[in-house]
Amino acid sequence: MAALSHKKSCGQLMEEWKEFIWNPRTHEFMGRTGSSWALILLFYLVFYGFLTALFSLTMWVMLQTIDDYVPTYQDRLANPGLMIRPKSDSLDIVFSDTDNTTWKDYVDKLDHFLPAYDDMNQTSKNEKCPSGAYFEDKDNGNVRNHPKRACQFMRSVLGTCSGLEDATYGYSTGKPCVLIKMNRVVNFKPRPVPATNPFITIDCAGKKEEDTQNLGELRYFPSNGSNFGIIDLMYFPYFGKKVQVNYSQPLVAVQFQNVTPNMDIYVECKVNAQNIKNDDDRDKFAGRVGFKLRVNS
Ligand SMILES: *[C@@H]1O[C@H](CO)[C@@H](O)[C@H](O)[C@H]1NC(C)=O
Ligand SMILES: *[C@@H]1O[C@H](CO)[C@@H](O)[C@H](O)[C@H]1NC(C)=O
Ligand SMILES: *[C@@H]1O[C@H](CO)[C@@H](O)[C@H](O)[C@H]1NC(C)=O
Ligand SMILES: *[C@@H]1O[C@H](CO)[C@@H](O)[C@H](O)[C@H]1NC(C)=O
Repeated sequence: MAALSHKKSCGQLMEEWKEFIWNPRTHEFMGRTGSSWALILLFYLVFYGFLTALFSLTMWVMLQTIDDYVPTYQDRLANPGLMIRPKSDSLDIVFSDTDNTTWKDYVDKLDHFLPAYDDMNQTSKNEKCPSGAYFEDKDNGNVRNHPKRACQFMRSVLGTCSGLEDATYGYSTGKPCVLIKMNRVVNFKPRPVPATNPFITIDCAGKKEEDTQNLGELRYFPSNGSNFGIIDLMYFPYFGKKVQVNYSQPLVAVQFQNVTPNMDIYVECKVNAQNIKNDDDRDKFAGRVGFKLRVNS
């Protein structure tokens, strides 16, 4: 009964609601006077104005620290990965030397990739650098030496893998060439092992002992005559796309001389330098690259 007597009629409710919106006696709009509303408005104006200013200031300060030419933070670790050419999605190189349709795609990919390294292109856009030393093309004090020159990498140093002597890169004779390139890392200087070497090295082997046996003999280009490919120190450091407009990534070609046919062979190529990790279990492309090779006959 008590609850019932407290119940208000619909009309009463409407009255109270109306009075809440606009109370003509106290001149209150939604429970507040005009000056109260004005104060609230002012408060939020100042509050948000302050936030905007703070945000802009932070942004401005941050932008001041950004260099157009050098990334301030690199999200990728300075540990270059390796990749191969020709590259397919699955990193397989499977073909039959006697059937040119099976290797046409690989040859086309290399034909497309290599012209940038044509000796003529390289002489016209890049510099002949002294071998065995980092090529820094140093800034002159505070005066920036931009854009910087980059070093020549001649297609001809890839020898029988250059496509100049053998237009099929060895695929037609069952001695396929694979190019290995190291991803660019800005300002990275690899340190050779041993430290006195004028180059870092790349070598390939089977993932397992039996793979290595099936792989047969390997030839590397360029090489110093030993059983590995070399990347001269003059190709480092890389200063970024904006600074070194004509930079050509150095390559190492490996040619598989007498692969055991009709076998899946798992190959792994590694780059060897003091400051490059190539055995990280969680990252199979850090300092190395693995692919499957199979020559059918
Ligand atoms: C493949 O070889 C055949 C026979 O030798 C030839 O007629 C054909 O043009 C070749 N195809 C390619 C893509 O080279
Ligand atoms: C390199 O030179 C060849 C001609 O020898 C030309 O067809 C090609 O477009 C050039 N490539 C680049 C990237 O300059
Ligand atoms: C880049 O190459 C072009 C020719 O392709 C050349 O004119 C230019 O000077 C080169 N730039 C640098 C910084 O080496
Ligand atoms: C090639 O480099 C390796 C490693 O530094 C060295 O032991 C070897 O003597 C070099 N070979 C030639 C022919 O220079």
